[in-house]
Amino acid sequence: MAVIDSFCAKDTYELGEKIGQMAKPGMVISLTGDLGVGKTVFTQGLAKGLGIEEPVNSPTFTIVQVYEEGRLPLYHFDVYRLDDISELENIGFYEYTEDCVSIVEWADKFSDELPDETLWIYLTRIDDTSRSITLSSDYLTKDDLVDIGGPYVVGN
Ligand SMILES: Nc1ncnc2c1ncn2[C@@H]1O[C@H](COP(=O)(O)OP(=O)(O)O)[C@@H](O)[C@H]1O
Ligand SMILES: [Mg+2]
Repeated sequence: MAVIDSFCAKDTYELGEKIGQMAKPGMVISLTGDLGVGKTVFTQGLAKGLGIEEPVNSPTFTIVQVYEEGRLPLYHFDVYRLDDISELENIGFYEYTEDCVSIVEWADKFSDELPDETLWIYLTRIDDTSRSITLSSDYLTKDDLVDIGGPYVVGN
Protein backbone atom coordinates (compact mmCIF):
# COMPACT_ATOMS: atom_id res chain seq x y z
CA MET A 1 0.00 0.00 0.00
CA ALA A 2 1.17 3.54 -0.70
CA VAL A 3 -0.55 6.75 0.32
CA ILE A 4 -0.15 9.80 -1.86
CA ASP A 5 -1.01 13.46 -1.25
CA SER A 6 -2.47 15.32 -4.20
CA PHE A 7 -2.57 19.09 -3.72
CA CYS A 8 -4.31 20.03 -6.97
CA ALA A 9 -6.04 18.49 -9.97
CA LYS A 10 -2.73 18.52 -11.86
CA ASP A 11 -1.13 16.25 -9.27
CA THR A 12 -3.90 13.69 -9.72
CA TYR A 13 -3.69 14.02 -13.50
CA GLU A 14 0.07 13.47 -13.46
CA LEU A 15 -0.26 10.40 -11.26
CA GLY A 16 -2.66 9.00 -13.85
CA GLU A 17 -0.28 9.93 -16.65
CA LYS A 18 2.60 8.10 -15.00
CA ILE A 19 0.52 4.95 -14.54
CA GLY A 20 -0.60 5.25 -18.18
CA GLN A 21 3.02 5.27 -19.29
CA MET A 22 3.80 2.03 -17.43
CA ALA A 23 0.48 0.21 -18.00
CA LYS A 24 0.64 -3.30 -19.44
CA PRO A 25 -2.08 -5.28 -21.30
CA GLY A 26 -4.56 -6.80 -18.88
CA MET A 27 -4.02 -4.18 -16.22
CA VAL A 28 -7.21 -3.04 -14.52
CA ILE A 29 -7.41 0.12 -12.48
CA SER A 30 -10.20 0.40 -9.97
CA LEU A 31 -11.22 3.89 -8.84
CA THR A 32 -13.20 4.35 -5.66
CA GLY A 33 -14.25 7.68 -4.22
CA ASP A 34 -17.13 10.13 -3.92
CA LEU A 35 -18.52 12.21 -6.74
CA GLY A 36 -16.15 15.04 -7.62
CA VAL A 37 -13.10 13.56 -5.94
CA GLY A 38 -11.08 13.26 -9.18
CA LYS A 39 -11.73 9.83 -10.73
CA THR A 40 -12.22 11.32 -14.17
CA VAL A 41 -9.27 13.70 -13.78
CA PHE A 42 -7.11 10.68 -12.97
CA THR A 43 -8.50 8.84 -16.00
CA GLN A 44 -7.73 11.81 -18.26
CA GLY A 45 -4.12 11.66 -17.11
CA LEU A 46 -4.01 7.90 -17.65
CA ALA A 47 -5.28 8.36 -21.21
CA LYS A 48 -2.61 10.98 -21.86
CA GLY A 49 0.05 8.59 -20.55
CA LEU A 50 -1.17 5.96 -23.02
CA GLY A 51 -0.88 8.46 -25.88
CA ILE A 52 -4.59 9.20 -26.25
CA GLU A 53 -5.24 12.76 -27.41
CA GLU A 54 -9.01 12.81 -27.72
CA PRO A 55 -11.02 14.23 -24.80
CA VAL A 56 -12.00 11.83 -22.01
CA ASN A 57 -15.15 12.26 -19.93
CA SER A 58 -17.09 10.02 -17.55
CA PRO A 59 -19.15 7.56 -19.61
CA THR A 60 -21.88 7.66 -16.96
CA PHE A 61 -24.72 7.12 -19.42
CA THR A 62 -22.92 4.90 -21.91
CA ILE A 63 -21.18 2.86 -19.15
CA VAL A 64 -18.14 2.18 -21.31
CA GLN A 65 -16.06 4.29 -23.66
CA VAL A 66 -13.31 2.87 -25.85
CA TYR A 67 -10.14 4.68 -26.90
CA GLU A 68 -8.12 2.95 -29.60
CA GLU A 69 -5.57 5.56 -30.60
CA GLY A 70 -3.01 5.06 -27.83
CA ARG A 71 -0.17 2.63 -27.19
CA LEU A 72 -2.76 0.12 -25.90
CA PRO A 73 -6.57 0.16 -26.18
CA LEU A 74 -8.18 1.79 -23.16
CA TYR A 75 -11.61 0.77 -21.88
CA HIS A 76 -13.07 3.36 -19.56
CA PHE A 77 -16.00 2.09 -17.51
CA ASP A 78 -18.25 4.09 -15.22
CA VAL A 79 -20.49 1.59 -13.45
CA TYR A 80 -22.30 4.17 -11.30
CA ARG A 81 -25.59 3.36 -13.02
CA LEU A 82 -25.14 -0.41 -13.14
CA ASP A 83 -26.92 -2.32 -10.42
CA ASP A 84 -26.95 -5.87 -11.62
CA ILE A 85 -23.76 -7.90 -11.94
CA SER A 86 -25.15 -9.72 -15.00
CA GLU A 87 -25.07 -6.40 -16.89
CA LEU A 88 -21.28 -6.48 -16.76
CA GLU A 89 -21.30 -9.45 -19.11
CA ASN A 90 -23.61 -7.59 -21.51
CA ILE A 91 -21.19 -4.70 -21.86
CA GLY A 92 -18.25 -7.05 -22.52
CA PHE A 93 -16.58 -6.28 -19.21
CA TYR A 94 -14.85 -9.64 -18.81
CA GLU A 95 -13.42 -9.79 -22.34
CA TYR A 96 -12.06 -6.27 -22.23
CA THR A 97 -10.42 -6.53 -18.86
CA GLU A 98 -8.53 -9.63 -19.98
CA ASP A 99 -6.21 -8.10 -22.55
CA CYS A 100 -6.62 -4.33 -22.68
CA VAL A 101 -6.01 -1.60 -20.17
CA SER A 102 -9.23 -0.95 -18.29
CA ILE A 103 -10.17 1.67 -15.79
CA VAL A 104 -13.35 1.41 -13.77
CA GLU A 105 -14.98 4.29 -11.93
CA TRP A 106 -17.08 3.08 -8.94
CA ALA A 107 -15.45 -0.35 -9.20
CA ASP A 108 -16.08 -1.04 -5.52
CA LYS A 109 -19.67 -1.85 -6.50
CA PHE A 110 -18.37 -4.96 -8.26
CA SER A 111 -15.05 -5.58 -6.54
CA ASP A 112 -15.43 -9.38 -6.65
CA GLU A 113 -15.57 -9.21 -10.46
CA LEU A 114 -12.16 -7.64 -10.89
CA PRO A 115 -9.11 -9.75 -11.76
CA ASP A 116 -5.95 -10.26 -9.69
CA GLU A 117 -4.16 -7.76 -11.95
CA THR A 118 -6.06 -4.89 -10.41
CA LEU A 119 -4.54 -1.73 -9.05
CA TRP A 120 -6.99 -0.46 -6.44
CA ILE A 121 -7.06 3.31 -6.09
CA TYR A 122 -9.03 5.02 -3.33
CA LEU A 123 -9.49 8.77 -3.47
CA THR A 124 -10.60 10.87 -0.51
CA ARG A 125 -11.38 14.55 -0.45
CA ILE A 126 -9.40 16.51 2.16
CA ASP A 127 -10.49 20.00 1.09
CA ASP A 128 -11.34 21.87 -2.14
CA THR A 129 -7.99 21.15 -3.75
CA SER A 130 -6.40 18.34 -1.72
CA ARG A 131 -6.97 14.64 -2.02
CA SER A 132 -5.51 11.62 -0.31
CA ILE A 133 -4.93 8.79 -2.78
CA THR A 134 -4.23 5.25 -1.65
CA LEU A 135 -2.78 2.66 -4.02
CA SER A 136 -3.14 -1.00 -3.20
CA SER A 137 -2.53 -4.15 -5.21
CA ASP A 138 -1.98 -7.87 -4.86
CA TYR A 139 0.25 -8.13 -7.91
CA LEU A 140 2.42 -5.03 -7.53
CA THR A 141 4.90 -4.87 -4.68
CA LYS A 142 4.99 -2.11 -2.12
CA ASP A 143 8.17 -0.86 -3.86
CA ASP A 144 6.33 -0.73 -7.21
CA LEU A 145 3.55 1.30 -5.61
CA VAL A 146 5.97 3.69 -3.92
CA ASP A 147 7.77 4.10 -7.27
CA ILE A 148 4.48 4.99 -8.94
CA GLY A 149 3.67 7.55 -6.27
CA GLY A 150 7.12 9.11 -6.56
CA PRO A 151 7.61 12.34 -4.64
CA TYR A 152 4.00 12.49 -3.51
CA VAL A 153 4.15 9.38 -1.35
CA VAL A 154 3.50 10.15 2.30
CA GLY A 155 5.41 8.71 5.25
CA ASN A 156 7.74 6.32 3.49
N1 LIG B 1 -6.31 17.33 -5.99
C1 LIG B 1 -7.29 17.18 -6.90
N2 LIG B 1 -7.37 16.04 -7.63
C2 LIG B 1 -8.37 15.86 -8.53
N3 LIG B 1 -9.34 16.77 -8.79
C3 LIG B 1 -9.31 17.91 -8.10
C4 LIG B 1 -8.30 18.17 -7.13
N4 LIG B 1 -8.52 19.41 -6.60
C5 LIG B 1 -9.61 19.89 -7.22
N5 LIG B 1 -10.10 19.00 -8.13
C6 LIG B 1 -11.32 19.22 -8.95
O1 LIG B 1 -12.30 18.28 -8.56
C7 LIG B 1 -13.08 17.87 -9.69
C8 LIG B 1 -13.00 16.35 -9.88
O2 LIG B 1 -13.93 15.99 -10.87
P1 LIG B 1 -14.01 14.53 -11.51
O3 LIG B 1 -12.65 14.05 -11.85
O4 LIG B 1 -15.01 14.61 -12.60
O5 LIG B 1 -14.60 13.68 -10.29
P2 LIG B 1 -15.23 12.21 -10.29
O6 LIG B 1 -14.96 11.58 -11.62
O7 LIG B 1 -14.55 11.52 -9.15
O8 LIG B 1 -16.69 12.41 -10.01
C9 LIG B 1 -12.51 18.62 -10.89
O9 LIG B 1 -13.29 19.78 -11.11
C10 LIG B 1 -11.11 18.99 -10.43
O10 LIG B 1 -10.62 20.17 -11.06
MG1 LIG C 1 -16.25 10.66 -13.05
